[in-house]
Amino acid sequence: MQIMSNPTHDEIKKAAKALKNGQLVAFPTETVYGLGADATNEEAVSRIYSVKGRPTDHPLIVHISSINQLDKWAMDIKDYAIKLAKEFWPGPMTLILKRSELAKDFITGGQENVGLRVPSQPVALELLKEFEKIGGQGVAAPSANRFGAVSPTNIEAVVEEVGSYLGSGDLILDGGQCVVGIESTIIDCTKDSPAILRPGAITSKMVEITIRNEVLLSVEKNEVRASGLLDSHYSPKAKVLLGTVAEPGDGFIALAGVATPNGVIRLASPQNIEEFARVFYRALRTGDQKGLKRITIFQPEGEGLAVAIRDRLSKAAAGK
Ligand code: TXA
Ligand code: MG
Repeated sequence: MQIMSNPTHDEIKKAAKALKNGQLVAFPTETVYGLGADATNEEAVSRIYSVKGRPTDHPLIVHISSINQLDKWAMDIKDYAIKLAKEFWPGPMTLILKRSELAKDFITGGQENVGLRVPSQPVALELLKEFEKIGGQGVAAPSANRFGAVSPTNIEAVVEEVGSYLGSGDLILDGGQCVVGIESTIIDCTKDSPAILRPGAITSKMVEITIRNEVLLSVEKNEVRASGLLDSHYSPKAKVLLGTVAEPGDGFIALAGVATPNGVIRLASPQNIEEFARVFYRALRTGDQKGLKRITIFQPEGEGLAVAIRDRLSKAAAGK
């Protein structure tokens, strides 16, 4: 496995070729790092599952370079889904759409729909464009962590998670710290009305404003399978505690305005909700590196991105 830091155009072209040749390429996105493979290559995609240790019936998101690639992978696309794609792509949003012929069972987990996303991170976009120039159709990429573990938001975390499972021809592109820090908002667009399956930086308010007179359904009504929807996910080794009093020796994560309780090890003091999202996966990792048994977290209140943060925190707290 080779790491390319701040990859040049030529290095990104090389990575696109590696994907085309069936290798795995871990790459930065604005949300979290992804572990990419050619989404039409069954053998390459099966390596994603073995590197992650992930059950094979969990579908993968296909990453494309622009809305113009949408029709390759999806069909019968609802008008509201086009509105959302135009408004929020490139960006931290995944749309679940009725699949085309191209989206095989090994991508969708046998479901009749496919998840698609156009990321905005410049290295990711350039990689996707170069991949398409040499005949690629799309890059399947889950978060670059072992199944159930915390998503990586920087290169050290990627190496820690999957480095030892990658082969000699595989690559890791280093694009620095991910700016959003939590996974994309997933929106089911297969029904008459959209439903948010996983909250993220594209908030329900933003969706509602964009779809105007359409109704946004709640998550519970949906039976689509998504591993991020398991009650327990995104878990560090330490026990995560929410809404309890921190004890001496605990790791502690809270907004900067919250005072540090006596004897705890403060792992992060984000100034605002955006910074909270950006740093808390890294803070959970730091807690594990310090060998802490417990991490107590003071959850941010309010709507918008705070909803997505509380979603991930409650799953981290549910343990493995
Ligand atoms: O921000 C993100 O979405 C990152 C970056 C790398 O793009 N990717 C990511 O992938 O979080 P992953 O596989 O770790 O989580 C994607 C979630 C999974 O829970 C998966 O089950 C769900 O999306 N998903 C993918 N395709 C789906 C489909 N066709 N129907 C329902 N859920 C789907
Ligand atoms: Mg994941």
